[in-house]
Amino acid sequence: MTSPRDALDALFTEAARLAVDTLAQNHDRDQPVVRRVPPRELIAALELELPAEGRGLEGVLDLARKTLHWSVRTGHPRFLNQLFGGYDPAGILGEWVAALGNTSMYTYEAAPVGTVVELALIERLNRYVGFDQGEGVFAPGGSISNLMCVLAARQRAFPHVKHEGLNADDRPVMFTSCESHYSLKRAGMVAGIGTGGTVEVPVDAQGRMRPDALERLVVAEARRGRTPFLVAATAGTTVAGAFDPIDALADVAGRHGLWLHVDASYGGSALLSVRHRDLLAGIDRADSVAWNPHKMMGVPLACSATLMRERGTLVGTMGMNADYLFHEDSDQDWDLGDRTLQCGRRVDALKLWYAWQVHGDQGYAERIEGLFDQARRFRALVEQRAGFRLVREPMGTNVCFRYLPRAERGATGEARDRAEGAATLRIRAALADSGRFLVNYATLDGAPTFRLVASNPLTGDEDLVALLDAIEDEA
Ligand SMILES: Cc1ncc(COP(=O)(O)O)c(C=O)c1O
Repeated sequence: MTSPRDALDALFTEAARLAVDTLAQNHDRDQPVVRRVPPRELIAALELELPAEGRGLEGVLDLARKTLHWSVRTGHPRFLNQLFGGYDPAGILGEWVAALGNTSMYTYEAAPVGTVVELALIERLNRYVGFDQGEGVFAPGGSISNLMCVLAARQRAFPHVKHEGLNADDRPVMFTSCESHYSLKRAGMVAGIGTGGTVEVPVDAQGRMRPDALERLVVAEARRGRTPFLVAATAGTTVAGAFDPIDALADVAGRHGLWLHVDASYGGSALLSVRHRDLLAGIDRADSVAWNPHKMMGVPLACSATLMRERGTLVGTMGMNADYLFHEDSDQDWDLGDRTLQCGRRVDALKLWYAWQVHGDQGYAERIEGLFDQARRFRALVEQRAGFRLVREPMGTNVCFRYLPRAERGATGEARDRAEGAATLRIRAALADSGRFLVNYATLDGAPTFRLVASNPLTGDEDLVALLDAIEDEA
């Protein structure tokens, strides 16, 4: 009989080798970014049926290999598709250790290390934001952080809501730019405001919320008898990568007594760079901030901080005081469970702690600056090539561009948009099918537009040039 220790040794020694092989392949550009197959083919390849009788540990490594074989290689330098990319060995180790410890973050008793690590990291992130007396908690993603912030704003504006719910005459209305992330509108829907309770504010040519338009809409909504309570600015919009002018929006919010939330899920990490932190000037005037280290900082998903300017806000909004969990004779002050929407909660702070120890503030500043530089270089390449054009002037690490195939170069106006849009769809699908590049698109200014995201420090100029070459080839 194999001892439990020997069985574990056999499994995890091999698993460690698989990890090394998988991560090392991110340095090999001949590896495909993705092996795209239709869902039915994938289902057949994976043998999804669950056995009535367990197969034991023997087959599980094969499952792991198969999983990785068919998965998108998000650490590949030519994975340019999402707002995250690359890989962080220390972060991955943090993720493993969290699974090994397998605990939940509700009480200090159940998660002593996770609790003090999370508190220390929240304090550090708050320091970058400028919240001297702040608090916070980690959440399963930017969408949930945004939701928690909308709920906190609603609680302040309508203090009866926690017990009574909204009254018919409350008529809450919130404001966010027409290019903000959909999770804000969804948060309004979950908060009982309805999607109709979110007013979309127009943006300028770079995709930034216009403070003058915000002011006008706030006044108009109040005149209609609705109750403005929240402005949700974005630092780093999903498609254009735009940074709303937070200072000017804070002026408007201040004049009308509105809660100012900054969805810095994507762009919050720019605060780590002296060169780029001005993009978020005024964030210290916000009431709440969402910031995802799993995006620009490269920490494994999910790692999202929900930050509040004022201590006590989270418990005031979320607290339910379940005495079977939060005991009076324990270290209750250290229990984080009443600050969140969740009960069981993963130890997401651990991977950020490990990674931050490895990189330090300096390493993160260099990483962020490297990604901004990568986007700037790609922007220049797009501008220099015939047939390519920028759709938005980039502010951060996203570059939105289109390509007009040679045969259609005479087209102008809407005909040009249509031809470029059709080419975007056709070419990006062909690139993904070939496994060479995964680069996303979105409809921007009326037509499908490529959106390159600089998110992986391994992506070099050779990859950026190769992408433009590949687009021309596919066209
Ligand atoms: C600006 C912005 N906010 C929030 C989110 C949601 O983050 P998550 O995917 O972690 O829920 C995203 C996701 O891309 C985003 O771009």
